[in-house]
Amino acid sequence: MNPASNLVLIGPMGAGKSSLGRLLAPRFGLVLRDLDRMIEERCGVAIPTIFELEGEAGFRQRERGVLEEVCAGAGQLIATGGGAVLDPANRERLRRCGFVVWLKVGIELQLRRLGRDRSRPLLQVAEREQRLRQLAAEREPLYAETCDLVFEPGPVAARSAAAALARELERHWQRHPPAPAAVSA
Ligand code: S3P
Repeated sequence: MNPASNLVLIGPMGAGKSSLGRLLAPRFGLVLRDLDRMIEERCGVAIPTIFELEGEAGFRQRERGVLEEVCAGAGQLIATGGGAVLDPANRERLRRCGFVVWLKVGIELQLRRLGRDRSRPLLQVAEREQRLRQLAAEREPLYAETCDLVFEPGPVAARSAAAALARELERHWQRHPPAPAAVSA
C-alpha cells in the first residue's frame, strides 16, 4: 500500500499509458496530465521536432521539468513517456508523488501497436524489434524498482483493460486523501 493522491502510469511505448489514462482519470475523479502532450503544447511542436532540434538530451531536460512541476500537484493521473524513468530523480519523484502502475506489455504486442508509428523518434530505425528489446532490457529493471503495482493489460481493447485495472486499483491503491464518496461509488 502506498497512500498517494496521484496515480502514475509508467511503461514502454505502446503499453497504452495515454489511452488507459484517458479512460481511468474520470473514473477516479482525477485530472489527466499526459506529460508528452504537455511538453508538445509548451514547445508548440511535436516530439520528433524537439528531438531533431535539441536531441534526446534536450527532450529529457524538458521532460524532467514538466514532471517536477506536475509531481508537485495532487489529484492527477500522470501518464508518463516510456523513458521518464531513466532519470533517477524522476523515479524518486514519481514514487513519492503517486501510486505507480507499470503497464507491462510484451514486445510482440508493442510491435503490433507501433507498426506504422512515425511519432516516436527512438523507433525510426530499420530493426524496430531489436530496438524495443534493447529498450526493454535497459528499462524493465527501472520500471520494476519504481512501481507499486505491475499490471499486464494484454491484447484486449482499452476499455476492457481499463476496467480490469480499475478493479486492481480498488484493491491496492490506498488513496490519500480518500476520494469523495460520489466519485468512488
Ligand atoms: C519515449 C517514449 C515516448 C516519448 C518519446 C520518448 C521513450 O512516449 O516520450 O518519444 O523514451 O520511450 P510514449 O511512451 O508515450 O510513447
